[in-house]
Amino acid sequence: MNEHVKNTDLQPPANTKKVFVKTYGCQMNVYDSERMADVLRPLGYAPTDTAEDADFVILNTCHIREKAAEKVYSELGKLRVMKEARGQSGLGAMTIAVAGCVAQAEGAEIIRRAPVVDLVIGPTTYHRLPDALERARAGAKVVETDYAVEDKFEYLPQINREKTISRGVTAFLTVQEGCDKFCTFCVVPYTRGSEVSRPLAQILAEADKLVDAGVKEITLLGQNVNAWHGHGPDGSSWGLGDLLHRLAEVDGIKRLRYTTSHPRDMDDRLIAAHRDLDKLMPYLHLPVQAGSDRILKAMNRRHTAAEYIALIERIRSVRPDMALSGDFITGFPGETDADFDDTMRLVEAVGYAQAYSFKYSPRPGTPGADLPDHVPEDVKAERLERLQALLFSQQTAFQQSMAGRECEVLIEKPGRFEHQMVGRSPWLLPVIIEMKADDKLEIGDIMKVRITKAGTNSLHAERA
Ligand code: 5AD
Ligand code: SF4
Repeated sequence: MNEHVKNTDLQPPANTKKVFVKTYGCQMNVYDSERMADVLRPLGYAPTDTAEDADFVILNTCHIREKAAEKVYSELGKLRVMKEARGQSGLGAMTIAVAGCVAQAEGAEIIRRAPVVDLVIGPTTYHRLPDALERARAGAKVVETDYAVEDKFEYLPQINREKTISRGVTAFLTVQEGCDKFCTFCVVPYTRGSEVSRPLAQILAEADKLVDAGVKEITLLGQNVNAWHGHGPDGSSWGLGDLLHRLAEVDGIKRLRYTTSHPRDMDDRLIAAHRDLDKLMPYLHLPVQAGSDRILKAMNRRHTAAEYIALIERIRSVRPDMALSGDFITGFPGETDADFDDTMRLVEAVGYAQAYSFKYSPRPGTPGADLPDHVPEDVKAERLERLQALLFSQQTAFQQSMAGRECEVLIEKPGRFEHQMVGRSPWLLPVIIEMKADDKLEIGDIMKVRITKAGTNSLHAERA
């Protein structure tokens, strides 16, 4: 999981206060951080890139593994020093908030453990942030962790995103939040609550706004995005496949992606979207977690390894160039050497272009934490190392296989050198384009290129 610090490029108007948002964890948090900045803007808060000069600091946290939560407490230690220094310098108080999944999971405990925190706010209540901030600035310790996903969806889109904010050509759009799957290792059903889908009209309205602001590629987000369900204009039941078909009709949208999916929710209509829609990119993040049926059952994944492999074959039969990405956990309680070998075999059978893999980390309150036969840390680590070596070799082979190929690239920004532009291939890899003197390329264009060289994390290309 990456750690991002993301703020918009809006120049702060005079006499504004400053907010610093630090984002941990998943893309949903990146999206939420932008929305928090949106709701604070009318209160006179402009984003800043450093905590030191911020009147308001928000840590948007991740609780998926233990290390993620520990990082937050260590960051709070640093912020305590800054807050004290700021108090002494007469610059005015610094208000500190913990948002995201650690906030939801630990609630008031955070303030007990780190009294420097003024405000704890869970991911479904960001629309209440202005009110909560006002109370915190008046001296109260505020904890807002009730579930209120519908309210959040209804309220947040009404915030008018100004067109002057430079958003780039790619954007996330949350269509679904929460999860009802209850994988036994995972905190998400507890921290993000049960599945809620955003209504079609809201999604279309937000997509239009993004297109107006210059966005060409939209990635639909959800913890369990392919469980999205809604109604079409005629009242019929729609799934993510229908939503993608509808969004592909929007002229200004040139590319569509979605993440993260569960194998159980890859239905026929969604697979058909990969066959029918040129705008839907051939890249799919479809976590399997493990390759042993015994462990998959203990994880409550509700499918077997063979079913997963058969699903991948169906997807590749309609979209042969589909690049697959996955998540894996080593050392789930009870995992034997033979179980782990099944994971290695599954990886060999599928062939991943990209993957994330982790040692199992028991999360308090999840059923996995109470299972017998926890695997020793050194065994988890040794298995992770072997798995990552295999995944890395597949990733490298995938990237090398790009050399000599032709593909389209969506131009995102200028390159490091004057004659370069940087964009993304359909398979999500960054592509550096060496421009010829007569190439006229603008950000947001799609250009057909030939890949000349594959590096470790990017490709080089020239006009095809
Ligand atoms: N331990 C290790 N990895 C975990 N993940 C989720 N919960 C845990 C845990 N308790 C991983 C899964 C998931 C990804 C987002 O994080 O692989 O797909
Ligand atoms: Fe967690 Fe499983 Fe839901 Fe994914 S599907 S968010 S791993 S419970």
